[in-house]
Amino acid sequence: MANSEDIAIIGAGMMGHGIAQIFAAHGHQVSLVDVSDEILARAIENMRVNLTLLAQSGIGRAEDIEPTIERVRITQDLKEAASSAQFIIEAVSEELELKQRLFRDLDAICPSDTILTTNTSVISITEIATKAARRGRIVGTHFWNPPYLVPLVEVIKGEETSPEVVDLTADLLRSVGKHPVKVKKDVPGFVGNRLQHALWREAISIVEQGIADPATVDEVVKKGFGIRLPVLGPLENADMVGLDLTLQIHDYILKHIERSTQPSPLLKQKVEEEELGFKTGQGFQKWTPDTIERCRRRLLEHLIIWNRDHRED
Ligand code: NAI
Repeated sequence: MANSEDIAIIGAGMMGHGIAQIFAAHGHQVSLVDVSDEILARAIENMRVNLTLLAQSGIGRAEDIEPTIERVRITQDLKEAASSAQFIIEAVSEELELKQRLFRDLDAICPSDTILTTNTSVISITEIATKAARRGRIVGTHFWNPPYLVPLVEVIKGEETSPEVVDLTADLLRSVGKHPVKVKKDVPGFVGNRLQHALWREAISIVEQGIADPATVDEVVKKGFGIRLPVLGPLENADMVGLDLTLQIHDYILKHIERSTQPSPLLKQKVEEEELGFKTGQGFQKWTPDTIERCRRRLLEHLIIWNRDHRED
């Protein structure tokens, strides 16, 4: 796909505005759709803040900020945005019925060769596509937050997605600086969220069983095996230590680690008691506006440094 081709992003929240920013920064005309003028205005403001921070950090140029923003057209009119778009990314709230309805509507509005993608975190692409007629054109594109700083996008083939659509989607993502990986089988959680939530389930279970407190669990990851992860994936690591040793370890340990198919009772209790984390100031740990701001800033600075170091990759 050429850069002149139109992109539409449906949903201008946390993910949608950042995804729109990626395409606009690479010269695409982008339509950004949401349900209120206030949300859309906030999305534009957020993009300006992001692009300014990037330029101040040596990623991108200050003189490109306004031209980038001018390439983003905001609208509440789905038909206006989608009827001429060649590539559409759905980033609305994570509700199956909402997404199914949207894909049915988009399918009827768009030109027959438009590629329709969903940024769902965990829902099966095949299920999202069930109400649409041209299911071969529907594919998963799972970005990670913040999408303009995390390179990976999982490209998920639904049961009926055409292989050509998967290839074209990966090509387009590569052309805007993303790192697409193809997921062969459409399963809930794909690859990244299966791995991530296996770790979170065990982390919560360790706290629940009184093995270690929350800060210690996070410390074990951040100061221990987490340091290796950017350069050594779990399967490379298994090869490094040897699959014979990995087998011995699994033989001993698997029966002791968490394998519940239900969310943890501790997690449910915390949600019932409104201990939601940053949102309410108490989660696994206590949070103040100051510690929340510092935590967000630490993450952003880490991601910016990572991106500066890996620009040639
Ligand atoms: P969000 O709540 O920040 O944004 C969703 C937006 O969709 C809201 O602005 C809402 O007004 C809008 N919306 C709802 N119905 C709509 C409709 N019919 N038409 C147009 N806009 C509509 O949610 P967020 O975090 O941006 O997530 C969006 C999607 O991306 C979800 O499927 C989520 O699972 C997925 N995702 C989220 C990640 C995250 O870290 N937040 C990471 C990767 C994927």
